[in-house]
Amino acid sequence: MLLIDARGRRYLLRLRPGETWHSHGGAVPHDLIVGSEEGTRVHSTGGMAFTCFRPRLADFVLKMPRGAQVVYPKDLGAIMMEADVFPGARVLEAGTGSGALTIALCRAVGPEGRVVSYEIRPEFHAKAVRNVEAFFGKVPEWLKLREGDVGDAPEAGETFHRVVLDLPEPWALLDRVVRALEPGGIVCTYLPTVVQVQTTVLALQAHGFEHVGTFEILQRPWHVTERSVRPDHRMVGHTGFITVARRVAVSD
Ligand SMILES: C[S@@+](CC[C@H](N)C(=O)[O-])C[C@H]1O[C@@H](n2cnc3c(N)ncnc32)[C@H](O)[C@@H]1O
Repeated sequence: MLLIDARGRRYLLRLRPGETWHSHGGAVPHDLIVGSEEGTRVHSTGGMAFTCFRPRLADFVLKMPRGAQVVYPKDLGAIMMEADVFPGARVLEAGTGSGALTIALCRAVGPEGRVVSYEIRPEFHAKAVRNVEAFFGKVPEWLKLREGDVGDAPEAGETFHRVVLDLPEPWALLDRVVRALEPGGIVCTYLPTVVQVQTTVLALQAHGFEHVGTFEILQRPWHVTERSVRPDHRMVGHTGFITVARRVAVSD
């Protein structure tokens, strides 16, 4: 459950009957919230008010325990749209990291689709499993979380409509990606530096990918009150560059 205080600060709680959450403004028994409607306002023992909602995916991603750096919500939305992750799609992902992108991919493909996600570091794999379970209640049947190197993908007989890579050297994996992707399929990379982007784009072109494009998303929050309407003083200045490319059919 997400609790929001009067100043807009957000707190993510797993509700357990009989337990108590201790905020800086006093204690809040979970039983005050369990069974109540979304949007219910509760008061701590210190008189502080909190409004309770189920967390949006964007709230969950920013508050969930992290091993690896997560893909930010602004970028998750853009990846779903620009990589055209559709209901029923089969998606190969790496690395799973903390599982933020995995959860977004699972929601986008739905039960008719399939997401296969690789994570090379066992401790990140374990953390991602916990985050996925915390978000969905259990690991969805259409998600396969594999602990290992995505360089071993695809398994025999597996093909994918989309390949989404959030790891440092995607250019080293392009032979594998070509093998895994259906013709017309889309590969999407998420990279923090321009040097990585340039190496990736040149490698994509050398591997015959077309419609290669790179962009970044800047989200500028605004402060809106009766007396003042202006951009916030602070924003997330840089996260990652998104590159998208399409695999062409092999002819002649
Ligand atoms: C930036 S994190 C991914 C974060 C993830 N997208 C999220 O939103 O939570 C990159 C991850 O890729 C993993 N990784 C790096 N190379 C890999 C490989 N060859 N196969 C599988 N995972 C790999 C790293 O261990 C790390 O956890």
